[in-house]
Amino acid sequence: MHFSVIIISLFCVNTFAQQRNIDHRISRLKGNIFQNLTGHQEFENHIVTSQLDNSPLIRMFYRGVREMYSRLLPETGERHNNERFQIKVPTSVQFPCRVKGFRSKKIPKSVHQLRPGDIDVIAAVGDSLTSATAANSVGLWEVLVENRGLSWCIGGQGNWRTHLTLPNILKEFNPKLFGYSLSDAYNVHQSAQFNTAENIATTSDMPYNSRKLMERMKLDPRVDMKQHWKLLTFMIGGNDFCSDICYQKNASQWINNVQEKSLIQSLRYLRDTSPRTIVNLVPSPLISLSFSMDKINTPWTCYLSRPVECSCIFGQKFSRDRELFRTLERRFVQIMERVSFMSELHTNDFTVVYQPFFKDASVFYRNDRNPDLSIMAIDCVHLSQKGHAVSANGIWNNMMEPVGKKSMGLPHLFEEFNCPTLQNPYIYTNYNS
Ligand SMILES: *[C@@H]1O[C@H](CO)[C@@H](O)[C@H](O)[C@H]1NC(C)=O
Ligand SMILES: *[C@@H]1O[C@H](CO)[C@@H](O)[C@H](O)[C@H]1NC(C)=O
Repeated sequence: MHFSVIIISLFCVNTFAQQRNIDHRISRLKGNIFQNLTGHQEFENHIVTSQLDNSPLIRMFYRGVREMYSRLLPETGERHNNERFQIKVPTSVQFPCRVKGFRSKKIPKSVHQLRPGDIDVIAAVGDSLTSATAANSVGLWEVLVENRGLSWCIGGQGNWRTHLTLPNILKEFNPKLFGYSLSDAYNVHQSAQFNTAENIATTSDMPYNSRKLMERMKLDPRVDMKQHWKLLTFMIGGNDFCSDICYQKNASQWINNVQEKSLIQSLRYLRDTSPRTIVNLVPSPLISLSFSMDKINTPWTCYLSRPVECSCIFGQKFSRDRELFRTLERRFVQIMERVSFMSELHTNDFTVVYQPFFKDASVFYRNDRNPDLSIMAIDCVHLSQKGHAVSANGIWNNMMEPVGKKSMGLPHLFEEFNCPTLQNPYIYTNYNS
């Protein structure tokens, strides 16, 4: 079953990337032959996105098979006992930061004076690294399961001791936080909450993905769009390089022009639609993590999955362009950084902060300089639960570091864990650093 899905995905990426409907406006109910078999609670605005949804045929099978998957397989996100999991922190160890005093007594008026506990609602857009695809898989047949509850920036399963995630850190400062994903789920399932990330999404999908997120938030009676402070993590780019770039006529122009426009368009839309919001803009680690594994022996599963999940980089056909793609990947990270400084994206009510820790992400992140493959999922493309925990540690550290002094690369879990202080209580932005 797994391979049929992979083949469908590949086929789709290759064939339909060109025919992409600009608006991706498709009803999910019409396109899912197994819809009535699985009975998951779903959102009213069912449709989220990716190119996958563009052909009725692909949509019908891909979505149907995903539904079957989530019915037939156990909740892989519930597992704790594998070597790709973080070590549980015993209850004798305290949360590393003092939490008292880091929710303001009065709701702050400025996005540049937000303490961690002031965040009421958490959300995310992105791709399979944000949907936590394959994070807890032990076999290739499970790699399509999305363990959203474990996702580094939006998963809220368990707590920081069992699952280090950004929501589980923020919950310590504000136990009423909501919006995080609750368990394994696809983006249309209720338990995905405000995580509209979609597999195989690229930067071009982000305007649509952001719109779906906003619709979902506005329809949710718990959300007070005007009053609540919202934290939205926006990481994208991996699939631009894994699945799309090798089909572009002019790859340089595509990255420098087309993809940059989509990025800016999404951020402008969020600025105009989502008051009281701070956006973490994060470059994707997908390609740099992949390349960091070039010189080591990887399990056989990687040789099967990488050319399929990341065909532009690992497919033989495109090997002569690999250097160009690597250069353009670095270029795209620079574009993201530059966009984060566009003055129009910063008001008292809305801001974007570039968080660079993923930029130099590598499996060689530990002091001993030995590779740590346990941060990678079984397919060597996605992150494992431990990888998500390390990433949560990274984004948190970046949020607690002034712009210009942010650390790069993955931290060793809990070895460096930044905390707000009485002198510097705020989440750093371009204007309070
Ligand atoms: C699925 O269920 C809905 C509501 O119960 C029903 O209206 C619809 O006709 C069913 N679709 C199929 C294909 O059976
Ligand atoms: C790609 O586009 C750029 C800018 O439009 C142009 O300078 C370059 O020559 C093009 N490259 C190819 C191979 O067509």
